[in-house]
Amino acid sequence: MKKHVPFDDAVDLLDADHKAVKKMFLDHATLCEQSGTEEGKYALAQSICQALTVHSQLEEEIFYPLVRDVIGKDELMEDALEDHAQAKEVIDQIQAMNIADPQLDSAVKVLKGLIDQHVLQEREVIFLKARYAALDLKEIAVLLFERKQELMLSAKAHASKEAI
Ligand SMILES: [Fe+2]
Ligand SMILES: [Fe+2]
Repeated sequence: MKKHVPFDDAVDLLDADHKAVKKMFLDHATLCEQSGTEEGKYALAQSICQALTVHSQLEEEIFYPLVRDVIGKDELMEDALEDHAQAKEVIDQIQAMNIADPQLDSAVKVLKGLIDQHVLQEREVIFLKARYAALDLKEIAVLLFERKQELMLSAKAHASKEAI
């Protein structure tokens, strides 16, 4: 019997991550406009980085290799990995910043721009190709869901260790 996960399939799970991150970026922009506290903006920036790190790892470990195997579009997948690498550079910068860093807000905006563009490409090209390919997206959702829980746990453990 297949395990039940609270998503229709792998694409639905990954797109739920995209929506959650988009909401955090919008909340961050609102805080910037309304002169929100440094603490609030910093916490949100770190949450965005953590969510994106887990999401990218899920795609790189599980989803992209499976899609690459069936669609055979290496260039498309290479471009997506390149997008991840660019985003990771900015994520690393943000994670190295302290709460009062004057570059923090602008770095989050740069990251938002990169992610918006990348998500568009995933939604309009990669996800569509995955849906039309001979992939068991429901089974892949189970793999993604279980791995995501592991990665979130270790990200939280790591974050609380740093806070000590
Ligand atoms: Fe991605
Ligand atoms: Fe994605």
